[in-house]
Amino acid sequence: MEKYISVKELEDAALVLLPKNARDYYKSGATEEYTLAENRRAFQRLRIRPKCLVGLAACDLSTTIFGEKVSMPLGISPTAMQRMAHPDGETANVRAAQTEGVIYTLSTISTSSIEEVAEAAPNAIKWFQLYIYNDREVTRKLVLRAEQAGFKAIALTVDTPVFGIRRADIRNKFTLPNHLKLANFDGHLSTKIHSTGDGSGLNNYVNNLFDKSLTWGEIKWLKSITKLPIVVKGILRGDDAVRAIEAGCDGILVSNHGARQLDGVPSTIEALPEIVEAVKNYNVEVFLDGGVTTGTDVYKALALGAKMVFVGRPAIWGLTVGGEAGVQRMLSIFRKELEYTFQIAGTPTIEDITKDMVRHESAYSR
Ligand code: FNR
Repeated sequence: MEKYISVKELEDAALVLLPKNARDYYKSGATEEYTLAENRRAFQRLRIRPKCLVGLAACDLSTTIFGEKVSMPLGISPTAMQRMAHPDGETANVRAAQTEGVIYTLSTISTSSIEEVAEAAPNAIKWFQLYIYNDREVTRKLVLRAEQAGFKAIALTVDTPVFGIRRADIRNKFTLPNHLKLANFDGHLSTKIHSTGDGSGLNNYVNNLFDKSLTWGEIKWLKSITKLPIVVKGILRGDDAVRAIEAGCDGILVSNHGARQLDGVPSTIEALPEIVEAVKNYNVEVFLDGGVTTGTDVYKALALGAKMVFVGRPAIWGLTVGGEAGVQRMLSIFRKELEYTFQIAGTPTIEDITKDMVRHESAYSR
């Protein structure tokens, strides 16, 4: 894996290896993919302002999230159906996270079950991403299984009343390969995704089975069935962040679902400051994902107030290229880039990174 020295190189290699159905599913954004490009471009519009001769102390990337120490402020976001990328799928991904000491988030619609993932990496810090099904008993069982298997938080995805329009999946009539199933379920919930018909099999699954009538009131129900911290995933507005906190959530994951839901929404790094400002008087963690591909991206998000940052696709690319070793390579590339950034910027620990470390490019063009 040593020949790969950037996340971009892993991505390029993965895109060659993946069959079309899976490749298009993993890489696509919603409709025109404007926000998909903006997730990357918005990072590029920010400049880092290094401090010189700070008498550099030892570099420390570690931080603590809900009482758990992580080795760096970067974790893995939930992405569905990882066995399309590699036969070991989620179990390889979580093992890499365990080795690297970072958080791994398992999707509800995974191709390895909650229990398989827990067994593969008993010491990894695992979060469970939850979609709320129309059938609350199905949903309740998922949460209890995650809790029993030692998962440390529930990431409740709130940006998906219906699935976004991803044109390639419609054209491909996306369907999970027949040898795979949604491993957290039995019966039709595990295989309904195979049903072809019009358009994407995944959209048909989600739009039929997930509850689109959800309101913030549902958090109360979720809190009544679990003691785990709840991270609300998919927030793009300050007022929604406050609603989430008032409903009892413990963390806010600023996310646009990898630009796969609604095209034209802000990039996540653009949305972050509004949310950090809105929640400043609350005791809550703010996280971000979307378009993060370098250590300097992570750094910029930390400077603008994120406690930690997550990546979705980069883990898929690593997984495709080298299974567990590929994901580990992806994480170690980020770690190295982050260490260099922390040191050259003159901020050797997370506490040293203040808002003034980053400035928008427009400030330099006056
Ligand atoms: C996702 N995402 C996602 N989110 C979620 O809550 N549940 C899920 O099952 C999935 N599945 C999924 C599949 C694929 C292929 C992608 C690319 C994304 C969104 C994901 O958690 C995360 O928000 C984005 O991937 C972050 O953007 P980047 O890092 O991919 O740019």
